[in-house]
Amino acid sequence: MVESIHVEGLSKTYNGTVKAVDNISFAVNQGEAFGFLGPNGAGKTTTVSVLTAQLAPTAGRATVDGIDVFQNPMEIKRRIGLVFQESTADSDLTGRENLELAAALFGVPRAEVRARVDSLLERMQIGDAADRLARTYSGGMRRRLELAVGIIHSPRVLFLDEPTLGLDPQGRAGFWRYVQELRKDHGMTVFVTTHYLDEADQICERLAIIDHGHLVATGSPSELKDRLGGDIVTIRTARVDPAVEAALKAVPGVASVSLQEDAYRVKAPRGEQLIPALVQACTQAGVALTSVSLKRPSLDEVFLEFTGREYREDGVTATDRAVRIGQVSQAFGRSRR
Ligand SMILES: Nc1ncnc2c1ncn2[C@@H]1O[C@H](COP(=O)(O)OP(=O)(O)O)[C@@H](O)[C@H]1O
Ligand SMILES: [Mg+2]
Repeated sequence: MVESIHVEGLSKTYNGTVKAVDNISFAVNQGEAFGFLGPNGAGKTTTVSVLTAQLAPTAGRATVDGIDVFQNPMEIKRRIGLVFQESTADSDLTGRENLELAAALFGVPRAEVRARVDSLLERMQIGDAADRLARTYSGGMRRRLELAVGIIHSPRVLFLDEPTLGLDPQGRAGFWRYVQELRKDHGMTVFVTTHYLDEADQICERLAIIDHGHLVATGSPSELKDRLGGDIVTIRTARVDPAVEAALKAVPGVASVSLQEDAYRVKAPRGEQLIPALVQACTQAGVALTSVSLKRPSLDEVFLEFTGREYREDGVTATDRAVRIGQVSQAFGRSRR
């Protein structure tokens, strides 16, 4: 397989103190959709800025499309496309003018500009709005325009930094449909950062999870989930007691038990069948349950597994959701007594 992005020992420290990216290494294959996943402040934008030759690293090496990023930044800029997390379309220009300007900036041959602009406008379904000022566009239309701007020069590698931030689920789905079509047609490599785990799971062939500037895991979404070794039953009890952990571990079929934050995480290949025995084990240990929830492995779980912390997405964690389920099971438990 041909490598499209190669990163070795990359670090970026701001102002000599803030270690935004700390010695990361990874490779992305040509044509792959590679997700760079992590919570706010993890170091995603810093990594994109370094790989797109906008920001000098503190240490490390990187090549994109075979070109050394730091020795040949101008060539990098010609070969890549970039869609930022912030809106970059010029509101005072029409959609068509935004695209024509980008075409001129990126040196698209004059004879080709018209056809490319028309085809992209059509493709992104902004053809009808092509001659309206970008300020009149909806959020989804703006993002599609910016995607079109990012690929007007047919880049070999497309960098997307949280491209769907602020879009509603429908807008997000639409945006990804266009990206996937472009990949199919142009064999473009896509490097995308996102803090939406579900999005990364669906779009990306491989992922790297970054947390506090460190890469904590790399692999395909299913490889990462498989590493968790089964379902996860989360049990909360009235108090934390070593007897509970021992009792849970002793239940046949349990692969492992760990205490994370204030909940016991029980891993088991067929979690739902073990719930009655797990509940009984707690009761026998003399500790009251406050909630039980079952989860199939998800990227939320992968993140928790590799960092020991809950993934926070817009302030809501997977546990917050699980607790709501737990409250339902608690009510169910009471009615049986
Ligand atoms: N220009 C800067 N100067 C100082 N610190 C910065 C700068 N840009 C980012 N940081 C810090 O670096 C860390 C990583 O930021 P960033 O790469 O923007 O993360 P993400 O994109 O994952 O949210 C954060 O702690 C952030 O506050
Ligand atoms: Mg960012």
